[in-house]
Amino acid sequence: MTKFDVVIVGAGAAGLFCAGVAGQRGLSVLIVDHAERVAEKIRISGGGRCNFTNREVTAANFLSENPHFSRSALAGYTPQDFLELVARHGIAWHEKHKGQLFCDRRSDDIIQMLLKECEAGGVTRWQPCGVREVRRTELGFELDTDRGAVQTPQLVVATGGLAIPKIGATDFGYKLATQFGHKVIDTRPALVPLTFEPQTWAPWAALAGIALEVDIQTETHYPSLTGGKRKGAATARFTEDLLFTHRGLSGPAVLQISSHWQAGKPIRINLTPTRELANLLKEAKTGSRKQLSTTWNQALGQDIPARLADTWLDQASLHTPSLTPQSAIAELKDKDLEWLGHSANDWHLTPNGTEGYAKAEVTAGGVDTRELSSQTMESKLVPGLYFIGEVMDVTGWLGGYNFQWAWSSAMACARSLNT
Ligand code: FDA
Repeated sequence: MTKFDVVIVGAGAAGLFCAGVAGQRGLSVLIVDHAERVAEKIRISGGGRCNFTNREVTAANFLSENPHFSRSALAGYTPQDFLELVARHGIAWHEKHKGQLFCDRRSDDIIQMLLKECEAGGVTRWQPCGVREVRRTELGFELDTDRGAVQTPQLVVATGGLAIPKIGATDFGYKLATQFGHKVIDTRPALVPLTFEPQTWAPWAALAGIALEVDIQTETHYPSLTGGKRKGAATARFTEDLLFTHRGLSGPAVLQISSHWQAGKPIRINLTPTRELANLLKEAKTGSRKQLSTTWNQALGQDIPARLADTWLDQASLHTPSLTPQSAIAELKDKDLEWLGHSANDWHLTPNGTEGYAKAEVTAGGVDTRELSSQTMESKLVPGLYFIGEVMDVTGWLGGYNFQWAWSSAMACARSLNT
């Protein structure tokens, strides 16, 4: 039977990075992946340019039932450390919005870098190669793979989450965790567009393609935002771009809030975060001969597309018949103008679901980190068993945080593996 010091299942971001470091520490490393192509998620990430980290990364950028778990690994391997590796490989990058760092050329630069690091560590890669069964033995673990049986004292699970099944995502990591007695926090699609009942959405569907910056918020149950204590509802809030789609809402604002959104609960959107519309409308009344539509467009400002402003008014007049676009603003009641202003400053809407794993960037939930060491990622239940990357219940915000978690958790594990 073939023997290795460590076997890593999953040749994605975390698995490849861990393999390279472990190999360069002198361990004999086998990495196994069932997909045809290596690290497909890196390839498609960041619109093909891989948002590989963020300038500022702290535990507060991650959602988990165990909010402090990520601290140690993030401190042990920082974005700056990854940037040094990127520089050693001569990869050009640039900073975008909110500290997000992207490749200048394409994501493949990062994949090639990881493969070169694996090569430098003499890593053996079996791909495509499925893993049929994993057994615990006196010597550690035995794996039945498509290329034969393998024995190892240390097994690293780096099989990621469930997002985008068509490029290889599976529940392997969760099943294996359960097989070895670990708890798995319920999984669900995150960083995902939200959808609405087709009938409710019909008036807005025609706005598909319109984007604007908004404030968005929803109730969250994550303890990270409630100071680690569950003292009732806390609010998750982001200021980002929103995108109208045919079936609902997307764009960074909605992807961020989707990770917190709980089925049945509303989300709240402020379409003009810097404008108090009720006041602007009431002030505009005095001595004005203008129609409501003109005043409304002026109050919303230039950043709100006219099609959205018009649709809003059409919908408002269904609720309050006096609010027709042609109404003379001077003749409208203050309370109706207040209602109109508030409706856009605090739009309440309840999604009927998400676009699911097919369109999600990540999976929220996963292997319960309370049963893992935050220093090494090793199981507290099964010595020699490790979980790294997205398979764990650690879900990053949009903006390079999920890759940084892959690098940091992989490094914590790779440094602690026995030679
Ligand atoms: P990852 O998914 O990278 O790797 C898991 C590997 O395990 C895969 O190669 C898979 O084939 C393999 N595997 C699964 N089941 C297996 C089985 N049964 N047997 C053998 N192998 C198996 N993040 C970010 O920080 N910046 C970004 O720009 C983006 N952009 C982005 C875009 C899109 C479209 C998606 C879907 C995701 C992102 N992400 C992102 C998220 C990021 O891609 C993700 O969090 C990391 O790739 C997670 O790294 P892992 O190594 O944990 O899993």
